[in-house]
Amino acid sequence: MNKKNQEILIQFKNLTKKFGNFYAVKDVNLEIRKGEIVGFLGPNGAGKTTTMKMMAYLLKPNEGEVWIRANGDLQKLTRRNKDFLLDNIGFLIEIPAFYGKVTPKQILKYFAKLKGYPRKKLNERIDTVLKMVGMLEWKDKKIGTFSKGMRQRIGIVSAIVHDPDIVVLDEPQTGLDPTARKEVRDFILNLKRMGKTVFLSSHLLYEISEVADRIAIIHHGQIIAFDTLDNLEGKAMKSVIHFELLNPPDDNIDEFIKRLKTIIVPLTGIAEEESWIKYDNDSKIFQVFFNGNPKNQTEILRNLLDNDYEILEYSVPKAGLLESLFIELTRKNEIGGVYK
Ligand SMILES: Nc1ncnc2c1ncn2[C@@H]1O[C@H](COP(=O)(O)OP(=O)(O)O)[C@@H](O)[C@H]1O
Ligand SMILES: [Mg+2]
Repeated sequence: MNKKNQEILIQFKNLTKKFGNFYAVKDVNLEIRKGEIVGFLGPNGAGKTTTMKMMAYLLKPNEGEVWIRANGDLQKLTRRNKDFLLDNIGFLIEIPAFYGKVTPKQILKYFAKLKGYPRKKLNERIDTVLKMVGMLEWKDKKIGTFSKGMRQRIGIVSAIVHDPDIVVLDEPQTGLDPTARKEVRDFILNLKRMGKTVFLSSHLLYEISEVADRIAIIHHGQIIAFDTLDNLEGKAMKSVIHFELLNPPDDNIDEFIKRLKTIIVPLTGIAEEESWIKYDNDSKIFQVFFNGNPKNQTEILRNLLDNDYEILEYSVPKAGLLESLFIELTRKNEIGGVYK
């Protein structure tokens, strides 16, 4: 279906939050459409949680508005209608500090009742959501004995136990190991498959890029890009080559890199003052910032070989590309450019 025709469920209009004179969130405009996963990406302190708290009416904006669809119309979120408008949204904002003596069943019952979930179907629903995160057998165990990852999973299902159409997850992968992060990713994709709409924040580029249909990048409280990953990459093609040498240098690294630079930098397609080559002593991997053009990539390799460097590995990892995209977008913002 054409995205443009999809219904807008959430709209932020010039959303702004100040703490004293400091703008934590400034003029944020975003819309979230039915059935999509919107990733909200930004470094720590960028303003993600503050934005989500305004959406949940936990914080009042200084300026701007949140609009939420209900009964077919977008309606402005106010104190008077917040319960009604937020009923159909599940929030996980910051890891809930559950009281250790309660059980998942008790917690989920509490949240479901709070949101008016039908009592008759409650027990069945609790089993369903616990099964979704592989926690069914822990239903009646005390949370005090749970690991951080298990608590996080209970936090996530407490946001969806009342079966909302929209799910808002603030850094659900924080503090989780790679396996648990993958489980959260699969869980989010599963929500989408069930027709849910998801707004997901993270400071981890990879976690967002793996699941999101569109990515909003927030930096110093402002949206600097909002688009599909493909389109974002097209706008910031610069990338990073990784390579390893058969005989890595063991001393005089600076001298070594200086020599490398005279060979490589003219071939990177990057201005000299912006170019860089890094060397990581532990992994023995060199990184070269270049313009992302495959022609330049092969040219650099050819010249390294012509200059008798023996190459063991030579690649442009996808994660490296995303990382450089993020660096590029945030750097552009520092000098005032905004990608739209
Ligand atoms: N209650 C508060 N009082 C003062 N400053 C705050 C408060 N909450 C957040 N901030 C500041 O606002 C900025 C954005 O914070 P936050 O929204 O938590 O960022 P993120 O979730 O992207 O890490 C940060 O600089 C943070 O220190
Ligand atoms: Mg946060």
